[in-house]
Amino acid sequence: MKHFLTIADYTKDEILEIINLAIKIKKETKIGVFRDYMPKKTLAMIFEKSSTRTRVSFETGIYQLGGTGIFLNSNDIHMGDGEPISDTAQVISSMVDMVMIRNDSQAQLELFAQNSAVPVINGLTEKFHPVQLMADYLTIVELGLDKNLKVAYIGDGNNMASSWVMLASVLGFELCVATPSGYEVDENIKQMSAKLIAKSGAKITYTDDPQIALKHSTVVTTDTWVSMGQEKQKAQRQKDFAGFTVDTHMMTKAHSTAVFLHCLPAYRGYEVSAEVFEANKKVIYQEAENRLHAQKGIMVYLSRAKV
Ligand code: CP
Ligand code: NVA
Repeated sequence: MKHFLTIADYTKDEILEIINLAIKIKKETKIGVFRDYMPKKTLAMIFEKSSTRTRVSFETGIYQLGGTGIFLNSNDIHMGDGEPISDTAQVISSMVDMVMIRNDSQAQLELFAQNSAVPVINGLTEKFHPVQLMADYLTIVELGLDKNLKVAYIGDGNNMASSWVMLASVLGFELCVATPSGYEVDENIKQMSAKLIAKSGAKITYTDDPQIALKHSTVVTTDTWVSMGQEKQKAQRQKDFAGFTVDTHMMTKAHSTAVFLHCLPAYRGYEVSAEVFEANKKVIYQEAENRLHAQKGIMVYLSRAKV
């Protein structure tokens, strides 16, 4: 049984298989064909943090696949209030067919998965946001940008940056991550990535200069400077990230046809200027909608349904 906890657990062929599944299911959805790939299946969705896109896309996705979603706010269940996570995992997974968790601990997510009888999906942890990256890559493929892809990630070396590092490492594309000093991608992630790069031939570089990252980039991306749980650091972070706003001037340093992606929520005037967001909003909203289609691909893949 396979979980979906990090992109690093998947091969290039497996990632592309899920992307192709998502493309097929999206096409069907767009013409109003909803096949019951997961009839009467239940997805438990445990949220320890807020969400707009992740909740709506998973809940709608499982419904469109013939199943049903159960939204579990962690404040309303016993996980974390003293009941061991292993008990919660054993019990929930004895009743449902798949579990999605958004929490603040990759280690706890992995512990849940170890004790789960059904596949577990990472809906965002402090370390990774792999389902987002599947939607991002689906968008890149739809835009025909997957050939000679060079991604520039400008901003915080957080869960999104680490997820880009993992995706590039597995698929073998070029990525340059620009972060201010003190906000670099974690060394453990770089070590995990190095092993994968040896196989894929990816070219991944790190810098504190956005201009270097932007050079020849065909996709520019960023994420909030203040992730969920970091609200108290907001003022300090806004100071430390000065010069890292992706604005129109920065975009001129990328390839002339480069697009800007954002996982959302986006804070205009901070990690991205209002102008850059506005100029790229069609693609950004396509990326957000692709959360639904990519996650349907992931769920169908994990359920081993015949497609
Ligand atoms: N991008 C993303 O995961 O959005 P939500 O936090 O709204 O789910
Ligand atoms: N880095 C952000 C991503 C939100 C989708 C966070 O963890 O809050």
